[in-house]
Amino acid sequence: MADVKNPNNHHKHHRLHALLIPYPFQGHVNPFVHLAIKLASQGITVTFVNTHYNHHQINSGDIFAGVRSESGLDIRYATVSDGLPLGFDRSLNHDQYQSSLLHVFSAHVEELVESLVGEGVNVMIADTFFVWPSVVARKFGLVCVSFWTEAALVFSLYYHMDLLRIHGHFGAQETRRDLIDYIPGVEAINPKDTASYLQETDISSVVHQIIFKAFEDVKKVDFVLCNTIHQFESKTIRALNSKIPFYAIGPIIPFNLKTGSSVTTSLWSESDCTQWLNAKPAGSVLYISFGSYAHVTKKDLVEIAHGISLSKVNFVWVVRPDIVSSDETNPLPEGFESEAGDRGIVIPWCCQMTVLSHPSIGGFLTHCGWNSILESIWCEVPLLCFPLLTDQVTNRKLVVDDWKIGMNLCEDRGFVGRDEVKMSIGRLMCGESREGVRGAIGRVKMSLEGALKCSGSSEENLGLFVDGLVAKVGLSNGKA
Ligand code: UDX
Repeated sequence: MADVKNPNNHHKHHRLHALLIPYPFQGHVNPFVHLAIKLASQGITVTFVNTHYNHHQINSGDIFAGVRSESGLDIRYATVSDGLPLGFDRSLNHDQYQSSLLHVFSAHVEELVESLVGEGVNVMIADTFFVWPSVVARKFGLVCVSFWTEAALVFSLYYHMDLLRIHGHFGAQETRRDLIDYIPGVEAINPKDTASYLQETDISSVVHQIIFKAFEDVKKVDFVLCNTIHQFESKTIRALNSKIPFYAIGPIIPFNLKTGSSVTTSLWSESDCTQWLNAKPAGSVLYISFGSYAHVTKKDLVEIAHGISLSKVNFVWVVRPDIVSSDETNPLPEGFESEAGDRGIVIPWCCQMTVLSHPSIGGFLTHCGWNSILESIWCEVPLLCFPLLTDQVTNRKLVVDDWKIGMNLCEDRGFVGRDEVKMSIGRLMCGESREGVRGAIGRVKMSLEGALKCSGSSEENLGLFVDGLVAKVGLSNGKA
């Protein structure tokens, strides 16, 4: 694991200067920030790019100032417009936001890159969801790296969208319901477990346009980095590797727990519930969060709230201000919090790693965001799965069906009922099946730790990737 305090080979790759450009959503900014630290710990100069909007939301100036002064890492910080004014409600107008990222953002990025080339930038590491990285990188003579912050399985399904189309599993009038058994390196998978966008029949949305273009563009990049580990998805990764240099270098999550994360990335201000958690017995509290991006219908939220009340479990519930919609201010049933009394707290946002690593946390009711899953495994907290959209649907399959480190909140994804919620919370927190899940998550955690050891797969892959970068930059500069 890259040790921030002890960067051992600071000067080894001093000619590399990478520009890191995350997709400007919380679940992408977080792994990009920690990738920046990992790469800088390898002696690479990093310039991290935040959008003006995210910079403004995070509200803490240059987010790397602390890390720089603590560890001397060369991480610089720049900001760029996402094409929309600061006051625009990106959550309420999500399609316009995505549309701006699709059509407008790259022009702003180009201006920024142009201004930075003089500082020796020679590598661009951009999120796979962008539609322009190979074009911009080529224009400025940069080595192009795509960072996929989700599971390799999800990458592979998108990457092989043409195969899904040919077989009528995607984009057909009547979609097939039989197993998908022809994607190289992917075990037969039920269509209902593919990413939500691959299950939709209307494929004209702005997100579809983004996915189509992004997965055309990624075929032209020099390297792909993925926030997974080889042991989780070895067959899928091997098959991808025969087509594109694909490196599993995960888990990329905030490790610096003792001091709290020294980089603030939260787009909402964090509530500190440590005192409250300190007063609760070990393993007794259910942590509930549906991530930064997805919305939940008021109907489902109300059923979940009643299920939580009926279960009598202790809980910390992150109810993001826009969880239903930013114009629905108080979505929980009336009296929910007062009825819970000292049993539970509702907060708008928190430092999730700090909460998950608290000994009183015994379970995580999650929407199955990939970062949340990696963080929960790291903290050995069993999962209760309530996937909402995008990759979360596929992540649920990995967690429940393959790795057996979690359970489903509801068996039928289309129906959330309070009694089922109550029962599944009971099963997760104190049922007989809890022990099996706990054992499994302990073993999976060991794989994660193993991957980060000196000779572990992710550390080795990171080394190979950096060597590859050095060679590539040398080639394009005409010097080794
Ligand atoms: C989305 C996708 O669902 C996810 O699978 C993909 O990898 C990125 O885009 P999101 O829905 O936000 O992300 O979920 P997740 O991947 O879990 O990321 C949320 C991040 O926010 C995590 O790093 C989590 O630690 C952090 N978080 C969440 C907080 O710090 N505080 C909170 O209260 C809630």
